[in-house]
Amino acid sequence: METNYLCRLESKTQIADGIYDFVVNAPEIAKNTVPGQFLHVLCSDKVFLRRPISICDAYEDKVRFIFEAKGEGTAELAKKQVGDNIDIMGPLGNCFVNGVYKKPVVIGGGIGVFPLFKLTKLLDNPEVFLGFRSKDRVVMEEEFSAVANTHISTDDGSYGYNGYAAAMLEEYLDNNKCDVIYSCGPTPMLRAVKKIAESRNIPCRVSLEQRMGCGIGACLVCSCETIFSGTNKYRRVCKDGPVFDSKEVNI
Ligand SMILES: Cc1cc2nc3c(=O)[nH]c(=O)nc-3n(C[C@H](O)[C@H](O)[C@H](O)COP(=O)(O)OP(=O)(O)OC[C@H]3O[C@@H](n4cnc5c(N)ncnc54)[C@H](O)[C@@H]3O)c2cc1C
Ligand code: FES
Repeated sequence: METNYLCRLESKTQIADGIYDFVVNAPEIAKNTVPGQFLHVLCSDKVFLRRPISICDAYEDKVRFIFEAKGEGTAELAKKQVGDNIDIMGPLGNCFVNGVYKKPVVIGGGIGVFPLFKLTKLLDNPEVFLGFRSKDRVVMEEEFSAVANTHISTDDGSYGYNGYAAAMLEEYLDNNKCDVIYSCGPTPMLRAVKKIAESRNIPCRVSLEQRMGCGIGACLVCSCETIFSGTNKYRRVCKDGPVFDSKEVNI
């Protein structure tokens, strides 16, 4: 049963241009969440539909989420001040991890790095690859580096590896073992990661982003075509995902 909670905004930090790091008081969500899950957030009374935002971290009675102010909903959310209450439904969706693997690799791009943080903290000795457009868009580098061996790339070469995170991953896999890949980011990156993983027979779990309505499996707005048990089947990103085996999705 999905529940919504009124959660007090405990801290608000702008970590890059248009990117906001929120910590809210949400004991029930913090206690029950697993890596990969998201929140469905009522951004303000002016915006009717909730917006999905991944859980970046959860500890004690706090939940942290980071978002880019893109359009009407997230721009309204960015106006919230410490002490305000935010109506949040969650935790929603499934878990990144569906087995025990010895050599995990985590790869994220842009705002897709946020749901990977809690996962990275829980995995045993993961190798992490994070890609950004340019140096001024690099976020959470220190935090990921504190918990895992972390490699940064920028598309324009202004910081770290010069090129896409997927290219950095491919070079790493040429010389190192890996027995599972977890990924979240823009579709072209996920497509490249899927191709790399499948060409090397490495199990791969990808988190998809889809526009959402209800967030709880009822409206079908978030349906996407998947290959499930050998046949094509529409599945709901909010309820059956957002994390899928790469072999199940057409991206
Ligand atoms: C499971 C899930 C987890 C997410 N986690 C995060 C997160 O941790 N941090 C974060 O910044 N964003 C995250 N997103 C994306 C976020 O939900 C959208 O950016 C947000 O809903 C846009 O709402 P808006 O009102 O600001 O923009 P709108 O005015 O609705 O749209 C602005 C622009 O964003 C695009 N857009 C809208 N919704 C989505 C979407 N769901 N996916 C991709 N593009 C979209 C639109 O096409 C448009 O170009 C997540 C999405 C999903 C489905
Ligand atoms: S958003 Fe309504 S079914 Fe997924």
